[in-house]
Amino acid sequence: MAVALITGASAGIGAEFAEQLAQRGYDLVLVARSPDKLQAIADTVSQQRHVKATVIVQDLTTPDAAAKVMAQLEQQQLQPDLLVNNAGFGTYGEFADGELSTYLNMIQLNTMVLVDLTYRCLQSMKQRQTGSILNIASTAAFQPIPYFAVYAATKTFVLSFSEALWFECKPHNIKVLGVCPGPTETQFFKTAEFPDSLGESVGQNYTSPQAVVSDALQALDKGQSNVVTGGLTNQLLVNAGRFLPREALTGAVGRMFKTQ
Ligand SMILES: NC(=O)c1ccc[n+]([C@@H]2O[C@H](COP(=O)([O-])OP(=O)(O)OC[C@H]3O[C@@H](n4cnc5c(N)ncnc54)[C@H](OP(=O)(O)O)[C@@H]3O)[C@@H](O)[C@H]2O)c1
Repeated sequence: MAVALITGASAGIGAEFAEQLAQRGYDLVLVARSPDKLQAIADTVSQQRHVKATVIVQDLTTPDAAAKVMAQLEQQQLQPDLLVNNAGFGTYGEFADGELSTYLNMIQLNTMVLVDLTYRCLQSMKQRQTGSILNIASTAAFQPIPYFAVYAATKTFVLSFSEALWFECKPHNIKVLGVCPGPTETQFFKTAEFPDSLGESVGQNYTSPQAVVSDALQALDKGQSNVVTGGLTNQLLVNAGRFLPREALTGAVGRMFKTQ
């Protein structure tokens, strides 16, 4: 049975990946910090979809997190055929007023552990000449976002990294996909402490995690390097700024995200 390793699998988009990949017959390895939520998802998919689900409780902001996850996989003789680098968070606010440690944890989770897990999984995928890697970026990857500066920068990194690896990995029969969801109905905006006024306008454009994951898996099947999920509105959003001068684009986004 093929094995899918999913980070941030305890909630939101990650939990939906667990459901849809179980439907596709994958055995699952579910990683996040919340043991109870992970176990509940593992129990549900193993009962309803008849797949094996293994739980790894790990805070991925610690520098040796990827090595620890891979060590547990090795112990259980599991080799990921599909890696979903999904765990991530953002925080709203003026950069200089936030906590430096929060930004460094965000960079660690959204980018560094993603690179670390990708590197480690690619070694065996390359040997076997098969595998797939899905990295969850965001529509935030397509422009700088004042008041969401570090988050948007991490997602630009994820998209660029994924598209470059898509090309490198193709001759090895390994698929790499950068997934760019727009606003999706999860705990993300609450965790990010988005102001209510902004949350309301973002909320009008919410997509469901189900739609994000099915769009992502379809794009993976087709061998795409990237996908903007959530339909036409998000497509327009990410392309709108292409021909604007950078200052005009950043200014427009900044005015949209500034609340006072
Ligand atoms: N929702 C959106 O509008 C949106 C749009 C574009 C992109 N995204 C991206 O989609 C991905 C999933 O976000 P979501 O919307 O599903 O958010 P979510 O509902 O807040 O879920 C985040 C997941 O990441 C896990 N996580 C957070 N910190 C972690 C840590 N230190 N170590 C291990 N796991 C950790 C959480 O589990 P625990 O708390 O149990 O650890 C949870 O399973 C993120 O990369 C996000 O940037 C979201």
